[in-house]
Amino acid sequence: MKMYNSPSEVTGEYRDMLLRLMTRQFYAETATAEVFGRSIGCAPTLREKLMAAEFAEEEAEHSGRLCRIYEDLGVDPEVVFQGRPAAAKFWDLDLDNWIHIAVFNFTVDRAGSHQIMEYRDSSYRPWAEQMDAVLEDEEGHYGNGVENLREFAANKAQFKEFQEVYYKMLPVTIKRAFGRPTGADNDYCVKVGLKGHTTEQVVNRYLEEMVGFMKECGLKFPPLAAFDAIGAEILPSTREILLSNQA
Ligand SMILES: [Fe+2]
Ligand SMILES: [Fe+2]
Repeated sequence: MKMYNSPSEVTGEYRDMLLRLMTRQFYAETATAEVFGRSIGCAPTLREKLMAAEFAEEEAEHSGRLCRIYEDLGVDPEVVFQGRPAAAKFWDLDLDNWIHIAVFNFTVDRAGSHQIMEYRDSSYRPWAEQMDAVLEDEEGHYGNGVENLREFAANKAQFKEFQEVYYKMLPVTIKRAFGRPTGADNDYCVKVGLKGHTTEQVVNRYLEEMVGFMKECGLKFPPLAAFDAIGAEILPSTREILLSNQA
């Protein structure tokens, strides 16, 4: 596998694809910074408020790392940022609703982490080298996501609401955070080592991790119809995981 150690080495199709993957991550990092920042307002306890503030700061720091990589590549991150859709609209999210935030942390933020696990070993080394520290923070975010899930599971009425929001947000996450599971772009990324695994493999790893915590708490996957309804493409191997934990 050819490795790229400096910005001057990347050109053409490789550079275009690198920038596309970085942009997907940059959109996610800047959006999660805003979502966590906003959630300071609706978090129910002091402990949760302080944690939301800490997570917002960490997501901003992740965004800053990408800004520096963009600048080294001669790209203005401010221009990239201006192309980002509004977080609430993109994720179908109510930013003032604590249950929405808790589901977001458990689903959307973790989907981003599973992509970053791929980038950690990317053939573009200046990017890959920045990702270990990012993933360390993300472990903390998911730990809190799981903790929140357990808390909601202990309250029947709230858990019902959590499940409803999750039924909407997981299909959106599969469709928007991961994109199409097959295609020439996917194959190209794996071939040149920008990613180590196919999107199908990454989605399945994400869901398999999630299902362990779900079973512990009695949370079910949305019915397959919910994925079809918004046009989220689900491959047979993924379908099998979703079918393994249905209401
Ligand atoms: Fe992040
Ligand atoms: Fe995060």
